[in-house]
Amino acid sequence: MRILPTDTIELFNDAVERAASLLRAGQVVAVPTETVYGLAANALDAEAVRRIFEIKGRPANNPIIVHVASIGLARQCAREWPGAADKLASAFWPGPLTLVLPRAKSIPDIVTAGGDTVGIRWPQHPFMQRLIQKCGFPIAAPSANPSSAISPTTAHHVASSLGERVSLIIDGGPSNVGIESTVVDLTASPPKVLRPGMISAEALAAVLGETVVSAADTTTTNAIRSPGLLAKHYAPKARLIVLSWRDEKELKSRIEAFGLERGVTHIIAHSRIPASEDFARISVIPNDPQAFARALYAELHKCDELGAKAIVVEEVPDAPEWAAISDRLRRASASQQQRN
Ligand code: TXA
Ligand code: MG
Repeated sequence: MRILPTDTIELFNDAVERAASLLRAGQVVAVPTETVYGLAANALDAEAVRRIFEIKGRPANNPIIVHVASIGLARQCAREWPGAADKLASAFWPGPLTLVLPRAKSIPDIVTAGGDTVGIRWPQHPFMQRLIQKCGFPIAAPSANPSSAISPTTAHHVASSLGERVSLIIDGGPSNVGIESTVVDLTASPPKVLRPGMISAEALAAVLGETVVSAADTTTTNAIRSPGLLAKHYAPKARLIVLSWRDEKELKSRIEAFGLERGVTHIIAHSRIPASEDFARISVIPNDPQAFARALYAELHKCDELGAKAIVVEEVPDAPEWAAISDRLRRASASQQQRN
C-alpha cells in the first residue's frame, strides 16, 4: 500500500494521474473528500464496484453514492431531473449533499443494490473534483472504512483499517466537514432526509420553499431504505456513552452508575471540561457544530488507537445545527448496547 501526498501542485497532479489510471483499469483507490475519505471505483464498471463491497465487507443491500463533478454528469446518472434537484444543486453543490433520484440505465445494479434510485453527490474537495474530471466517468465511493466502523477523516485512518486491502491511498489532508453527507430522497413527496448531515433539513426546506421531512421523524421506517441509518453504523471499538453533567462530581457518579472504570474511560467534552486525573484521557472538542463535526471522528479513532475501554462524550445541544452530530453519537452508542 502507498500513500501519495498532494500538497504541491506537482504531487497533486501526479496523484490525480496515478489514481485515474488505476480507476480506468477497474481498481479501487482510497480518496479524500470534504466529508470523509471514500473508497473509489468507476461507477459504470460493475466488477470494480464489486471490489468495493468485498474490501469493506459491505452488505449487498446497501447502495453506494455516485460522485460527479458537473451537472451534466449528474443528469447522465439520473432518469429524471426534477426542479428540486436544480435548486438544491445550485445552492449546495459542490458540497456535502447527496440527492436520491430515479436511476439511469447506465448505472449498474450493484451500485444501487438493485433499487430503482441512485444517490448522487458533487463533492467539494479539489482532488476528487479533478479526479472525476480526468476520468470522465462517475465515481462510486462509500466511506473508506470496514462496514459498521467509524468513517475515516484522514489518510492515516484509512491506512490503519484498510491498508492491507487497498494498494493506493491519496492523502488530501483532514476532511473539512468531518461527517458524512446529508442524504435527501427527492423521489419522495415531500422530500425526505434519509441521513442527516451538516446541511440541515431546515436549510433544504428554505431553498426548496417546501416542507422537508427530517430523519428524526422517519428513522424507523427508513432503516431499510437507507441502511446508513441502521444503528450498527458509525461505531468505535470502545463502548460509547453520551452523558451530560453539571460538575465533575456528577460525572464521576454517572460513570460509576454505568459500571465503568475511570482509569480506562476517555472523556470527550466541549463545555463542562473535567479536571480530574482519574480518567484515562480528557479531550476537549470545540463548542461549535462545524468544528465539532470536523474533530469528532478523529477523536473517536484516537480513543480506539489508545485502547480505550469506554468513551464518554458530553451531550450536545438539542438544536438543528447539532442534529447530525447527535444522530451519529446516538448511533454509535446504540450499537454498543446492541453489541454488548
Ligand atoms: O459523505 C459521504 O456521503 C461519503 C463520501 C465518501 O462521499 N460517502 C458515504 O457513503 O458516506 P456510504 O456508502 O458510507 O453511505 C452512503 C449512504 C448509505 O446510508 C446508503 O444507504 C445511502 O447513502 N444511499 C446511497 N444510495 C442510496 C439510494 N439510492 N437510496 C437510499 N439511500 C442511499
Ligand atoms: Mg459509510
